[in-house]
Amino acid sequence: MSKQPLLEPIILSNTIQLNNRIVMAPMTRSRADNDERAPTEALHGVYYEQRASAGLIITEGSQVSKQAIGYINTPGIHSKAQVEGWKHVTQKVHDKGGKIFIQLWNVGRMSHPDFHNGELPLAPSAINPNSKSYTPAGFKDTVTPKAMTIEDIQTTVADFAKAAKNAVEAGFDGVEIHSSNGYLFHQFFNNASNQRTDQYGGSIENKARFLFEVLEAVKNEIPVERIGLRLNPSLHNAFGMTLDEETIPTFEYIVKQLNNYNLAYLHLSEPFTDVSDVPHAVTDIAKHFRPLYKGTLIINSEFDQEKGNAIIEAGFADMVAFGKLYISNPDLVERFKTNAPLAEWNEDTFYTPGKKGYIDYQFLDKKIKEKI
Ligand SMILES: Cc1cc2nc3c(=O)[nH]c(=O)nc-3n(C[C@H](O)[C@H](O)[C@H](O)COP(=O)(O)O)c2cc1C
Repeated sequence: MSKQPLLEPIILSNTIQLNNRIVMAPMTRSRADNDERAPTEALHGVYYEQRASAGLIITEGSQVSKQAIGYINTPGIHSKAQVEGWKHVTQKVHDKGGKIFIQLWNVGRMSHPDFHNGELPLAPSAINPNSKSYTPAGFKDTVTPKAMTIEDIQTTVADFAKAAKNAVEAGFDGVEIHSSNGYLFHQFFNNASNQRTDQYGGSIENKARFLFEVLEAVKNEIPVERIGLRLNPSLHNAFGMTLDEETIPTFEYIVKQLNNYNLAYLHLSEPFTDVSDVPHAVTDIAKHFRPLYKGTLIINSEFDQEKGNAIIEAGFADMVAFGKLYISNPDLVERFKTNAPLAEWNEDTFYTPGKKGYIDYQFLDKKIKEKI
């Protein structure tokens, strides 16, 4: 491959200069196995530093409050200890010339009472996603959550704003609002999880209201040019989401509204499963949404070097986020540059504690690199 669009620099919202268009996708790795659920210099610091040649790193989902938790050993961004932990990470990435956003996360009903001293998780409506929660005692069935009161919603909006403030203090270049993959925001968007009759349910505008309230609150704490947002419009029969005739129009409405904000980027996922037979689904997300959004678009899911270059070349996205490839190839950028072979990831160590499968993936052998 001669000229690779993935390797071209780009500036986000006239503000953040990136060395290339290769993004490390947000990935939960469950390495914060300490009482504070804080990232550590020895694990998280090294892991992200190893991947700092990415044009942009988006961290793993990081809970914005105790309430927001749903998985074992995920780091947060709500306590002093967590902010201190993240400072090591941002420092190391910046020292290597990289840029890093933190993904702000509230799982909503994708949680379990074990994380909440026996209390129910919160969600738009009291509807069980009939899924599994990965608790310290292993996988457990999810429960029927408690429907959020207006006060719960206001508290959650404030949690996101506080987390954004903490992210600035921790030295992040920006934040990504995790409004994707069946978690709290997505639960507001989707009819299978939102049956509210107040101003947060019913019409498309109402179902999107919570997201925009959070966006407004977050942009009081960090410039809008440093906020990204993630959506997964064709998610179906996964994470408790069901696609219906209102789903895509809801996302179209959200994406069009986002044009009113000079965001760092909009981050979309292609369908996680084959939705070609699902009524009302969009099969080509980038192609469908590119004409609707005027800002920088990141696309994700199942891309490789060739497909990534091709989609930018075709004008359907500006950047490409790589997930699993980044687990096993810390120097993915160098490998793409030199068309070098890629290492395989090991699923068994995606969420296990410690260094194994986390910071022990190899960099290209220097000798091999010289020969290429
Ligand atoms: C181990 C693992 C953890 C993930 N955790 C998150 C997460 O915290 N937040 C998120 O938005 N997506 C998460 N994802 C989804 C990825 O960001 C990405 O969308 C998915 O892996 C598909 O991209 P890929 O084919 O390049 O891997 C995770 C994926 C994996 C494999």
